[in-house]
Amino acid sequence: MTLQLDSDGHLRHLLTLDGLPREILVRLLDRAGQIRDTALGRTCKRNSLVGTTICTLFFEPSTRTRSSFQIAAQRLGADIINFEASTSSARKGETALDTLRNLEAMGVRGFVVRHAEDGAAEMLATHAGEGTTVINAGDGRSAHPTQGLLDALTIRQAKGPDFSKLKVLIVGDVKHSRVARSDLHALHTLGTGEIRVCGPQSLLPDDGVLKGCVVGDDFDAMLEDADVVMMLRLQRERMEEGLVSSLDDYHRDYGLTVQRLRRAAADAVVLHPGPINRGIEITDEVADGPQSLVLRQVSNGVAIRMAVLETLLA
Ligand code: NCD
Repeated sequence: MTLQLDSDGHLRHLLTLDGLPREILVRLLDRAGQIRDTALGRTCKRNSLVGTTICTLFFEPSTRTRSSFQIAAQRLGADIINFEASTSSARKGETALDTLRNLEAMGVRGFVVRHAEDGAAEMLATHAGEGTTVINAGDGRSAHPTQGLLDALTIRQAKGPDFSKLKVLIVGDVKHSRVARSDLHALHTLGTGEIRVCGPQSLLPDDGVLKGCVVGDDFDAMLEDADVVMMLRLQRERMEEGLVSSLDDYHRDYGLTVQRLRRAAADAVVLHPGPINRGIEITDEVADGPQSLVLRQVSNGVAIRMAVLETLLA
């Protein structure tokens, strides 16, 4: 993906972690690590984006991603406006591109885009004006680069910077998950020792993204000695009927319970991008338990989004 890099190799848009050079990825993690405390405190507001207007252009629902981009932009002194597809002229049939062009004409420089269609952010970046920056906040099942970054940062904080000894397991509806795709790209780029991917055959992708991973459908076997367990939400909105026989069966075979987690390494950590279907992919005891980093992921999300906005727009 060269569209996101300029001719000097600098980041111009953030559309995917696929092919993003390791130095850029690590620099974003380092920067986010440094600003993590600032990101959460109220006192140390930075002013690197004073005078810059950013728009969150969301055509799909979001809680964490949108609010953390808002908080991140505010912490950097930017002005931020929220475009809501359900209450805008998108309801009258206006296209995403026309929407972007109109907001560009008002002086918006940064667009944080979420869309149900694969490639939507890339399409907007292709047609955006010279000085406009597009950040993909999730397109279809393709990519969710800031989630991939915040997951990598969360793992790095818990396990240290050397990923080569780690066994990382990704579990569940990988087929429909943009989070899994961006996580896989980040984990490969960071040189993860072993990447395991587990789910029912019907929810495993067959488009080549699992190249280089250990793939299987036996959750108990795949959990053995895992250092990191990344659970995914069942993406029922992107699923044809019948891919999962029943939610009870799914929970029985792929739900992470306290008992199951004992198969993983004693100091294993558990991640989930949210929103959580409690009692389906993960039980309350695990989601809220001592090995869960779910809320750490959320707070790291603000720091990662500050690092991304500053890198792209300051
Ligand atoms: C994810 C998304 O929307 O892709 N949520 C998020 O950004 N944290 C994951 C999901 O919806 O399952």
